[in-house]
Amino acid sequence: MTRKAANAGLMALLLSTALGGWIDQPAHATTSPAAAADAPTGAESGQGHSASHSAEVHPELWPAVAWPRVIDEAGEARVQALLGRMGLACKVGQILQGDIGTVTPQDIRTYHLGSVLNGGNSGPGGDDLAGPAQWLALADAYYEASITPSADCPPIPVMWGTDAVHGHSNIVGATLFPHNVGLGAARDPDLIERIGAATAAEIRVTGQEWTFAPTVTVPQDYRWGRAYEGYSSDPALVASYVGRMVRGLQGPPSTAPILAGPHVIASTKHFLADGGTHDGIDQGDARIGETELRLIHGAPYLPAIENGVATVMTSFSSWQGVKIAGHRGLVTDLLKGRMNFGGLVVTDWNAHGQVAGCSNASCPATVNAGLDMLMAPDSWKLLYASLLGQVRDGTIPMARLDDAVARVLRVKQRLGLFDAGKPSTRLLAGRYELLGSAEHRAIAREAVRKSLVLLKNDGVLPLRPAARILVAGDGADDIARQAGGWTLSWQGTGLTNAQFPGATSLWGGIAAAARSGGGSAELAPDGQFRTRPDAAVVVFGETPYAEFQGDLTSLQLKPELRGPLATMHRLRAQGIPVVAVMLTGRPLFVNPELNAANAFITAWLPGSEGGGVADLLFARNGEDFRGRLPMVWPAEARPGAKPLFPFGYGLTLADGPQGWTVLPEDSGVAEEGSAGVYLAKGQPTAAWSLEVDRAGGGESLRVTKVPALALGGRVQIAAVDHLVQEGARQFRLRANPSGTTIRLTTTSPIDIGRQSNGELMLLATLRIDSPPSGPVSLTQSCGDRCAATIPLPELKSLPAGTWTVLGVPLKCFARAGADMGRITSPWALTTRGSLTFSLAQVSLGTLADRVAACPR
Ligand code: BGC
Ligand code: BGC
Repeated sequence: MTRKAANAGLMALLLSTALGGWIDQPAHATTSPAAAADAPTGAESGQGHSASHSAEVHPELWPAVAWPRVIDEAGEARVQALLGRMGLACKVGQILQGDIGTVTPQDIRTYHLGSVLNGGNSGPGGDDLAGPAQWLALADAYYEASITPSADCPPIPVMWGTDAVHGHSNIVGATLFPHNVGLGAARDPDLIERIGAATAAEIRVTGQEWTFAPTVTVPQDYRWGRAYEGYSSDPALVASYVGRMVRGLQGPPSTAPILAGPHVIASTKHFLADGGTHDGIDQGDARIGETELRLIHGAPYLPAIENGVATVMTSFSSWQGVKIAGHRGLVTDLLKGRMNFGGLVVTDWNAHGQVAGCSNASCPATVNAGLDMLMAPDSWKLLYASLLGQVRDGTIPMARLDDAVARVLRVKQRLGLFDAGKPSTRLLAGRYELLGSAEHRAIAREAVRKSLVLLKNDGVLPLRPAARILVAGDGADDIARQAGGWTLSWQGTGLTNAQFPGATSLWGGIAAAARSGGGSAELAPDGQFRTRPDAAVVVFGETPYAEFQGDLTSLQLKPELRGPLATMHRLRAQGIPVVAVMLTGRPLFVNPELNAANAFITAWLPGSEGGGVADLLFARNGEDFRGRLPMVWPAEARPGAKPLFPFGYGLTLADGPQGWTVLPEDSGVAEEGSAGVYLAKGQPTAAWSLEVDRAGGGESLRVTKVPALALGGRVQIAAVDHLVQEGARQFRLRANPSGTTIRLTTTSPIDIGRQSNGELMLLATLRIDSPPSGPVSLTQSCGDRCAATIPLPELKSLPAGTWTVLGVPLKCFARAGADMGRITSPWALTTRGSLTFSLAQVSLGTLADRVAACPR
């Protein structure tokens, strides 16, 4: 079937289902609805953005859902009584959630904050890797502060939310389950519930009550950097998991109080159509019709609500150009009205600041749209002040505030928070042996086995237990790489195996299996073995990323990650059979690797239990592959390419040796560059140029070759070494009264608005060769008459002759007035003085050990 024909069939189905109501079974057998999402559909979906759509929702077209009874009359009476005793400031505090990096226990006492969270890079005492006892102690400190009574604020315990998205993944030593994409391949709702229960138990050990999970996104474009957080591109598959995950975490809806059992509250996110944005751009715009919105992206919310999910998190993204965090129709009329959601709706990280007419400091529109709690990591204090004024002057009706507060209190009542005592006294608290317990790890290992998808096998699998196995590839012994983003840190980068006590790398699992089978294993990431092996396992694939940092423009592995392909070729040339194991958050164009290997396994992001891979390589205890693709695997890297493997594809060992037709190795697109890298190895990356300008205009030189002279010889440019030969450029500036600028620039502006929303920094890898004789500044430009300049005093004190990474938070430029939506020059250094420095790289990223303050 051609792609077009497939789409037409799918769309017909989608439309007919639309008339009938809700999807209750997979819309298709062999292809993913991903294809449907970009199919032109005439009247219904329109031919693109401006066609016939508005952001107006018609709740009456959506199914009504029943919200279970989650608190009784006495509970409701208690909520109302509390509400009656709360003054305005007390109420406003209750709907705010700050990040533990900026909220002290004293702040909880002063501002009565209803909740705290730990963002991906936050930990107790500023330490992401703090031990579990420190998390629990901090939970106690917040709790104690929250129950201190004051004049017009009765004691109301604070609740703490955390991103336990694949296990209690911010905690060292916790069990790390496969990311959701792998679980989607497992097709096992029962397993999902057990994972939810194990995760909840581990969260309770360190004293939190709330996880921002499960992500119930239905990704339609796998270029999206968060696609791996979703179970599948198929709404029916996602929907089949959601209710079970919610029950695993919270217990059945009748569970009361939740904290009396080994449970926490869940949050389905990100409402709505986070996985439906145009071109798969994170925090982007879903330009789809209401039918698609309902059938694809709405489907998971039905089981979530039926199972009493306590909270829903709205998406950063928009529908038809309107940010969800300010969309009254979707949040109030649909979710709370038609769908009867009775819990609380929380925004995402400073998402209110992206709503039209709002800033991080002020956003009545979000509350008026129906949001009950604002995730205001570092902006809560400003919001507290602006909200007080907005309620006083009637911009926000008191009734709306009361409704929001009542919803927060109902969740707390349902948790049993008012009677639970301090976190360390509750069930499972401090039982540190439960973090990464044998029982939980066994569930995770089972999940790994069930998630592996076998795409090719010429008969080399299963490996013989007594064989000599070479384990190669850059991902072979790297637990952080198996675990992916949202692991200990936000991006999951910068970690070593030592930070994963009790975990097993793929190499560790294979070595143990080989030993117990009477065989042997050798680790050699570059494939240079000492003992000639009977077979080689080559582990390759993506490195960790989270959110927009993982966005791609095409579905291919970055060039720097393709090294293991050469290893596969070399081993094959030596007559050694190769099993390729791919670590990845998504399907990518890897035809060359598929051709090169004798067997090919997609392992997704399996987490801490690498032993699960070895179980299947050796078919231990008769285990066989059963994972099936939770999305289509594309034949080329370009968007909309036809499928190579259909939705649901996956071989088993029982299928026996399979023939193989050599695949074309042209990806169909240019090489994928790393987004957010403007200069690498001293050279501008595609679309960028490096210039030396006279500040204020006039003379300018585009640096294309070195050595070079610019500005009448006042600037000398040369190649110097950094990591590799000539991996940097050196600029020798003589004093220049009109000023000299070294600039990276482009003619097609980039939008880094969403990147400016967190801790992301503009990083420059540089070396001061002779210190500046005068002030130095850094500028970002947004067109001809738009720029933000900030001083760089730090440069003066950098040790000469040493390479360092100098980081400036992106948000500093935004604050200084840059229009982050159309940056034409992300990095321009200016000085009037003399200065010699060398520059190797300019990119976006984070520095774990650096405080993200704006230079003054
Ligand atoms: C993410 C959410 C997450 C929140 C808290 C946001 O940036 O989009 O998924 O729950 O941060 O870390
Ligand atoms: C935080 C994450 C958050 C992200 C949003 C990061 O700095 O650590 O939790 O999701 O910013 O952009």
